[in-house]
Amino acid sequence: MAPTTAPSKLQFSPAGQTEIERLLTHYPADRSKSVLLPVLHIAQAEFGGWVSPEVQDLVAETLGIRPIEVYEVATFYTMYNLKPVGRHVLEICRTGPCMLRGSDELTANLERITGAKVGETSPDGNFTLKEVECLAACGFAPVVQVREQYYESLDTTEAVDAMLNDLRAQIHRPILPWEMLGEVHSQQQQ
Ligand code: FES
Repeated sequence: MAPTTAPSKLQFSPAGQTEIERLLTHYPADRSKSVLLPVLHIAQAEFGGWVSPEVQDLVAETLGIRPIEVYEVATFYTMYNLKPVGRHVLEICRTGPCMLRGSDELTANLERITGAKVGETSPDGNFTLKEVECLAACGFAPVVQVREQYYESLDTTEAVDAMLNDLRAQIHRPILPWEMLGEVHSQQQQ
């Protein structure tokens, strides 16, 4: 039977929309594509940590560009997640210095503790594991990035446990960076 109501249309939060409009003021009106990367970050943060095709379409509509211009960027950069993720995405550096300081062992430990393989989400929905290239914190290898937070020197069981416990304790979603600007506050903030 055909649905009686149309699916609700995706929308940015008022705070997200305000931040997008602020970013757009930095560029000429006919260069809205220049803010595509930060707007994709806003979209990813506001829509569950990943950018579905529908969310990418919303980004295109918001910036007045073609959907393909969003798709080709979202699928190129590894920081954009193209499928659902857990509450925390652990980006594990696997480049040379981190590898020499035990990133392989770190990855194996995280897989064992969380029950998720790289590219998967743990059964409790808390952690998605992802391997990435150099995070520019080589002096503190091995390193994991979770959103804006770096966890460094993860070469001991204690350090890994402390990181996971810290993340598990974050019951509410982190405040989004643009929500800390001026008087802007998200309606979705808990
Ligand atoms: S190699 Fe891991 S942060 Fe540079």
